[in-house]
Amino acid sequence: MSTIQSGAGKRIVVCGGAGYIGSHTVLELLSLDYDVVVVDDLSYGYRHNVEPGRLRELNVLDTDAVERVLREKPTEAVIHFAAFISVGESMHKPEMYFHNNTCGSLSLFTAMMRAGVKRLVFSSTAAVYGMPDKVPIVETMPYAPVNVYGESKVMVEKILGWMDLIHGLRSVCLRYFNASGADPEGRRGEEHKPETHLIPLLLEAVESGKPATIFGTDYPTPDGTCIRDYIHVTDLAQAHIFAVQHLLSGGASDKFNAGTGIGFSVKQVIDSVERVTGKKVPVTYGPRREGDPPELVASSEKLQKTLGWKPQFTKLDDIVRTAWNFEQKREKQLE
Ligand code: UFG
Repeated sequence: MSTIQSGAGKRIVVCGGAGYIGSHTVLELLSLDYDVVVVDDLSYGYRHNVEPGRLRELNVLDTDAVERVLREKPTEAVIHFAAFISVGESMHKPEMYFHNNTCGSLSLFTAMMRAGVKRLVFSSTAAVYGMPDKVPIVETMPYAPVNVYGESKVMVEKILGWMDLIHGLRSVCLRYFNASGADPEGRRGEEHKPETHLIPLLLEAVESGKPATIFGTDYPTPDGTCIRDYIHVTDLAQAHIFAVQHLLSGGASDKFNAGTGIGFSVKQVIDSVERVTGKKVPVTYGPRREGDPPELVASSEKLQKTLGWKPQFTKLDDIVRTAWNFEQKREKQLE
């Protein structure tokens, strides 16, 4: 399949749809005329990201409540974003991450089986590969997570393998690389609290004048800083649409990297922020951050060839510009 079709009013339940990637995906689903319901406990997501009538405020660990939502009306598929995402925190509170991410997913799958909903798109992560010694990363590379966050997602991917085999639950796992940027129309953007991601932190540094820290300048990369694959959040949202449509048309379970195939170093990201904002980014140099692989770049060939997805944002400046527009709009709203 290579073209996006109308959702024709089909009902999709989006768990974690009030968060960053989830809310951008909801925008895409609505623009295609899907009937969207969001399940979110608002622990990290925002009420302002969801139309009130579409929100069911609950945690996916509440299996009975999720089952009731799935049974409200015939539901075609679930997209599951709801998870804790901080790698550092996962290494201090492993039980919290396994409980929320792994048990939460299992609870959702139980509700889905009870309600007879058998199609799922799952938010996975590049962290399932750990510290790969080769780039670009292809999907056949082994699981080798180096943190609890990555392990919690590997566990869910493995559970989904058995759910497919035993219950016929068809799933697409999208392994995200570095989601970044904001809706080009400025309706949604990145609002993590606390913020740990590079691009919003650099933009904050520009605005506040308080320096951002570069974590390590002695990596085996051309300029000594880490290289990442920054995928625009709207492109990532579109990947979910292709995945849903693959499943709705009877497609088999599969796993895909969601990245652009292009890597940028931390220094290149700083240069881009300076070009876009026209201001110098104040920075300080710190040691390496624990668990950071030198280079993570996806091969997105499988996603492009199998599902027909293609990234629209391939220039870093264009990605950063959307993030900057959102950041400025948000500042104005706070004034
Ligand atoms: N970085 C800095 N200073 C900062 C923040 C980040 O130098 O203040 C660097 C990091 O060391 C890294 C790069 O900028 O080299 C990107 O860091 P992010 O924290 O923005 O993103 P990560 O690559 O660490 O993490 C992302 C997702 C995770 C996912 C991981 C998979 O946010 O959820 O990719 O590799 F697990």
